[in-house]
Amino acid sequence: MNTDTRQGSQRRVLVTGALPYSNGRLHVGHLAGAYIPADIYVRYLRMTGADVRFICGSDDHGVAIMLSAEKEGKTPAEVANFYREKQARDFKGMGISFDIYSGTSINPYHAKQSQAFFTSLYEKGYFEKQSTRQFYDELKGVFLPDRYVKGECGFCGTKDQHGDQCENCGKMLDVDSLKGAVSVVSGQPAVVKETVHWFLDLARFGPQVEEWLNSAILRDHTKAYVTGLLATGLVKRAMTRDLSWGIPVPIEGDEAKGKVLYVWFDAPIGYISNTEELCHTGKLPHSTVQDWWSSKDTEIFHFIGEDNTIFHCVIWIAMLSAEGSFSLPKGVIVNQYLNFQKDGGEVEKISKSRGTAIWVEDLLDDPTCVDSVRYYLTAIAPERARSVYKPDDFILRHNGELADTLGNLVNRITSFTLKHCGDKVPHFEQERVSEVDKAFTAQLEEAYRIATEELEKCNFKSYLERAMEFARQCNRYVDEKAPWTMRKTDLEGTKVTLAYVLRAIHALGVLLSPVMPATGEKILAAFGRSPRDVAWSDIVSWNVVGAPLSQPPILFQKIVQEKAGESH
Ligand code: 2FM
Ligand code: ZN
Repeated sequence: MNTDTRQGSQRRVLVTGALPYSNGRLHVGHLAGAYIPADIYVRYLRMTGADVRFICGSDDHGVAIMLSAEKEGKTPAEVANFYREKQARDFKGMGISFDIYSGTSINPYHAKQSQAFFTSLYEKGYFEKQSTRQFYDELKGVFLPDRYVKGECGFCGTKDQHGDQCENCGKMLDVDSLKGAVSVVSGQPAVVKETVHWFLDLARFGPQVEEWLNSAILRDHTKAYVTGLLATGLVKRAMTRDLSWGIPVPIEGDEAKGKVLYVWFDAPIGYISNTEELCHTGKLPHSTVQDWWSSKDTEIFHFIGEDNTIFHCVIWIAMLSAEGSFSLPKGVIVNQYLNFQKDGGEVEKISKSRGTAIWVEDLLDDPTCVDSVRYYLTAIAPERARSVYKPDDFILRHNGELADTLGNLVNRITSFTLKHCGDKVPHFEQERVSEVDKAFTAQLEEAYRIATEELEKCNFKSYLERAMEFARQCNRYVDEKAPWTMRKTDLEGTKVTLAYVLRAIHALGVLLSPVMPATGEKILAAFGRSPRDVAWSDIVSWNVVGAPLSQPPILFQKIVQEKAGESH
């Protein structure tokens, strides 16, 4: 991956988190897949002085939301509004610091922006109108996308197959090869009906996608996957649907009546319309949507989960290339799936439809665990391979790495200093600085350099590992210098140790703020500082000596696990 060489204060960065469908609760897979890494990146960039905006909102359209509405006896808008608000609360609870959280059905600029985008491609002649045959539910009066029909594979006879591909023989299925198709919505036999749609021939934009792929910041697995897609050839995809919920297709005349834009056409445009809405809230004086989306000086980064890769790295790139007036993303940061371990020990896939997941709203029952969850999800981040959320492992790491290694260090050093040296970081005699102290400073500088490099490369797991390695180095330094015993015979020498380790604790407060903002805030408050006034470079350059010192609260209470069979 490339790294950016410009300094933070000159950078203008737009970071987006995938727009979640507003038809369900958020779970840890969402957090690990897109939002925590994006939030770490944004918080880091803000501290470097970059002009950064963090854009998100809900993806309100699509068939899945219509089906949820049908099931719940509500309108799609009601379902979207309900879950959007719930998701926004969950994000806030988890400390995800969006500058805007809108929704594709409520953003006042979204329909116009999406229709203008479609019209631009239409007028350039990029759409091909085609008549296709599709399954249709006569009872519900809706065309049925692949996932909403089931039948028997016409090749191998396997039953209960969806309309796209047979799970047994792997053959692609269509209206002719899926036998005895039944609508999942009504349970009634699906009929086949002709319908007209507008297709975008993605192959036409293969060269642009390839060129983008060669310069974009992407993880290796993403690059390999998209390279594979290009090698097998891009296909034509319909950009319109026969649905009653969505953005109307902006083509005059009867043939487009009752049709809406494909949800994956309008969803990424939501990034643009949400930026536009933010530009109108007064939070961005003198800023227009063009400043963010049509300027070569703005870097755009999308954070997504792996199932969104084709849409962001192929279709969206083709759409942007075809439209021509918006910038292509500089990077698309993709995380793989997060599975989870159940009580019995077996590992399961998170499944929204089966309701098997660790839900954010449940985690928020104990708001004191927010930073620990952010920490754990970053420590096990599925950046290069799928990973597993294990509740026991979460407790082990919370108790060992956060409560012992970090919390205990901060607590015992601040209380010891306050007790023996007063309420300021002690001054010390320069000539008392030893080689051990100098080596410790070198460790701090090295941790800063490497952690920064890792953040720049969006390697959040490695950044965190490096920061925590420095916390362990702090503990080793304290053990080696043993201020507890030294104080009895050499208070002046002890002051060197305390000033050095307090400088390191302050540094850890800044260093860990992107991943654990509440903890960073508590540590910085012990030095009379607020995160708002702190710069990333303060990790190495802030002069801690003489700063006011106060006792922070216990940063992490240990979690005591109930033994099996123990009653509440
Ligand atoms: O997978 C999802 O939840 C999609 N709603 C993500 C959309 S991202 C963007 F394109 F809006
Ligand atoms: Zn088959």
